Amino acid sequence: MLSILPIVYTLFIVITARSTAMAASRLPPVVKAGYYPSWVVDDLPPSAINTSLFTHVLYAFLVPNNVTFGFDISDSTAMILSNFTTTLHRKNSYVKVLYSIGGGGIEPDPFAVMATKASSRKVFIDATIGVARKYGFDGFDLDWEFPESPKAMDDFAFLLKEWRQAIRKEAKMTNRPPLLLTAAVYYSPEFLMYGSRRSYPAAAVRNNLDWVNVMCYDYHGSWDTSVTGAHAALFDPKTNLSSVYGIKSWLKAGVPGNKLVMGLPLYGKTWKLKDPKLHEVGSPAVGVGPGDDGVLTYVQVVEFNRRTKATVAHDVDTVSAYSYTGTSWVGYDDALSTTAKVLFAQALGLRGYFFWALGYDNDWTVTGQASSSWIVDK
Ligand SMILES: *[C@@H]1O[C@H](CO)[C@@H](O)[C@H](O)[C@H]1NC(C)=O
Ligand SMILES: *[C@@H]1O[C@H](CO)[C@@H](O)[C@H](O)[C@H]1NC(C)=O
Ligand SMILES: *[C@@H]1O[C@H](CO)[C@@H](O)[C@H](O)[C@H]1NC(C)=O
Ligand SMILES: *[C@@H]1O[C@H](CO)[C@@H](O)[C@H](O)[C@H]1NC(C)=O
Repeated sequence: MLSILPIVYTLFIVITARSTAMAASRLPPVVKAGYYPSWVVDDLPPSAINTSLFTHVLYAFLVPNNVTFGFDISDSTAMILSNFTTTLHRKNSYVKVLYSIGGGGIEPDPFAVMATKASSRKVFIDATIGVARKYGFDGFDLDWEFPESPKAMDDFAFLLKEWRQAIRKEAKMTNRPPLLLTAAVYYSPEFLMYGSRRSYPAAAVRNNLDWVNVMCYDYHGSWDTSVTGAHAALFDPKTNLSSVYGIKSWLKAGVPGNKLVMGLPLYGKTWKLKDPKLHEVGSPAVGVGPGDDGVLTYVQVVEFNRRTKATVAHDVDTVSAYSYTGTSWVGYDDALSTTAKVLFAQALGLRGYFFWALGYDNDWTVTGQASSSWIVDK
């Protein structure tokens, strides 16, 4: 546990030097964002969100109709959306409230067909603006996981460009601040998945989005049960599955740091150890451990550690936390590893960070620590 502190300390020095150097230049305000999954409402009603810890809260998710490309919003969802924006704005008038469109694991892909034609892109774009204004949102976030081919990436670029134009036009016509437009993206801009290599259109991202939410997690999981892993490793000495590799690739692709927001997970991944005596990151495993498909939210990890009296440790190489008891093993991020990541994001000149997801923290311990770790220029 103590061995991680030198890293944190070094980063602190780096950032202090950096912020002094940059104090004179005008930086866009930091982004401290959190996605709010609609299904946490019973545990965390909007009125219970600690809005002093966030600059942006994203309602997740709304999914467009895959035939009309508009949004079918029921009366009950309409109430929830209005209540969400009104409640958060009332609690803290500085907080911007967005809604996120799409989400992971949706079948069939709700965007692929829409994005192929200018006419359907227009229907979709107009619908997104209509929903934002009707329910009081300050903007929206596209969570398309993932454009599946180079052609789909081209369509994605057209979509962003036309979306930005429509946002500008609407703001001018209505004399209101332009809506925010962000996107959740894969941890690395170029990737091979399901046999197709593709790259995000960096220029379209840079020119048309306010920023991207880089999903710096899920590097390991139930698809590989043979070995334990730090699923949101900041560094990995052996592979490219690390946030530093992903973020540096985004920078190299031409998206500047002030348009990159680093994702931080408020959940862990679990494995069943092959040998309880081998319990480091990267130890042999034989299956998933506790939790739904080997996933525990951070508050569940804390509860698990307490209940089973698990041993908690930190891994310096990956900058992560893990715990183990018997054959159960959990890799996750806690306040300490999250602080190191937040400092690292700031040292790299990134815009900020976001959490997936609100409602998974243990009484705002990690999100609170993250918020106070970001060093503000005086
Ligand atoms: C739309 O989605 C439904 C189910 O969600 C699916 O059955 C149908 O094939 C989809 N249609 C198109 C055009 O993608
Ligand atoms: C939002 O919903 C809650 C719970 O149903 C209710 O108490 C509150 O008054 C609503 N707030 C607004 C602004 O509609
Ligand atoms: C990591 O990615 C770089 C290209 O960005 C590649 O040259 C290298 O071989 C990769 N390393 C591993 C271990 O996959
Ligand atoms: C919100 O978080 C701050 C910082 O962690 C804390 O001081 C405050 O008590 C929290 N507010 C609520 C209502 O939990």
